[in-house]
Amino acid sequence: MLVRVEVNGEWREADVWAGDSLLFLLREHLTLPGSKNACEQGECGSCSVWFDGELVCSCLVLAAQAHERAVRTVEGLAVDGDLHPVQRAFVDAGAVQCGFCTPGLVVAATDLLARRADPSDDEVREALSGNLCRCTGYAKILDAVRMAAARIRENA
Ligand code: FES
Ligand code: FES
Repeated sequence: MLVRVEVNGEWREADVWAGDSLLFLLREHLTLPGSKNACEQGECGSCSVWFDGELVCSCLVLAAQAHERAVRTVEGLAVDGDLHPVQRAFVDAGAVQCGFCTPGLVVAATDLLARRADPSDDEVREALSGNLCRCTGYAKILDAVRMAAARIRENA
């Protein structure tokens, strides 16, 4: 079946199988590999994207459901090659090790900071609780979100 999806502001089309996930559509049909496939069961958050503005696990959404809808992925965050402040903070805080969880965490943290300019540590932990990282122990990730929040506030 043919699906037409607005991805990062650009309308794209793909011929998908009815059982394909949105994650599969993004990675395999639209060559956007930023969203990662770690569990394919809604457990790890590595596939997080915005679906009509709502944070979702793209492995749990059917590609067919995305027809005529808007999706924003981690690839849509950088502007003209300049990293989004959350991406920059993850690099600067040393919050990236293997990097497999990073796109999902960046998307989830960006979603939080769009709603809460100065979140408490508990709010950050709650917002990122659906994103699993096997490497960092999370301390550097919290540092990165605090750093990004401060920088975004400074530049507001
Ligand atoms: S791959 Fe989607 S939640 Fe893990
Ligand atoms: S940096 Fe490896 S899973 Fe998070």
